[in-house]
Amino acid sequence: MSLEKRKAIIIGAGHVGSHAGYALASQGVVDEIVYIDTDEKKAKAQALDIFDATAYLRRHVIVRAGGYEDAKDADLLIIAAGPLPDMNKGQTRMDTLAQTVEVLKDVIAGIKGSGFHGIILSISNPADVIAHYVQHELQYPPKKILSTSTTLDSARLRRAVAEALGIDQKSIYGYALGEHGESQMVPWSNVTIAGKPLLELMQEKPDTYGQLDLDALAAEGKAGGWHILEGKGSTEFGIGAAIAEVSRAILGDEKRVLPVSVLLNGEYGQHDVYASVPAILGNNGVEEIIELHLTPKEQEQFNQSCETMSENYKLALSL
Ligand code: 2OP
Repeated sequence: MSLEKRKAIIIGAGHVGSHAGYALASQGVVDEIVYIDTDEKKAKAQALDIFDATAYLRRHVIVRAGGYEDAKDADLLIIAAGPLPDMNKGQTRMDTLAQTVEVLKDVIAGIKGSGFHGIILSISNPADVIAHYVQHELQYPPKKILSTSTTLDSARLRRAVAEALGIDQKSIYGYALGEHGESQMVPWSNVTIAGKPLLELMQEKPDTYGQLDLDALAAEGKAGGWHILEGKGSTEFGIGAAIAEVSRAILGDEKRVLPVSVLLNGEYGQHDVYASVPAILGNNGVEEIIELHLTPKEQEQFNQSCETMSENYKLALSL
């Protein structure tokens, strides 16, 4: 019998970090969670709050505040530090790049000195560019550092399609790809229901499926986060659940396919850029990248998204 315990470090005890911790604890994905935050009081408070909840959860989980020395034997490290886009100033996720890089300089130094050698899940926005930046600064094996990126946008896309069709979102297979942000795209040629391409259903049933406005649905999926930010000032439950899903796939060696941001080196015709694509996740992190067949128009949209991220990655390195 293996008595190995799964340990996760969460850097950043704000909205995203706290909900990630609660999702990991309540779903029994890990056995121990350690919060690290420059605001130590807040890290302790979030840890205590979640630890109280564990008295009534199904799994025994230790939740506490700590420091980078706790990362040495951890399996997973989640980076959730940094600002939320300020909607009042019309900020996009990409506009927060300089602020996030500033915050992450200390985080990167902390990880470097910690001896951590597990999987890094980088969440801070702009998610794809920051994952790449952290990978570069740590000179970390690319397969072991990824971002949830469009795992969340794909959920929002599926919600939009589900609402339009009256079909459960879990029965709709489709992804938003590229950036967790404004340049993301939807390869509609790969969206299926019961294994049948949505585009085929649209032709066969013009009065129902054929009425879908695909551009409007893609826009609705992309705007999903903004609607939430507008209403309550933060997004947290969706990203918390997405983090738990990706973490479980990795720590449980599930070989589950999820759209995550990974370093592309030749896949999709792209080089040296982090972008969200479907990938098989397991104990080694990103075990395999699945290359979808894209139409020329979809490939062009994907290329444009990658270009945006490459430019901003160069900017990040110069900061
Ligand atoms: C989200 O999409 C703001 O990136 C955050 O929920």
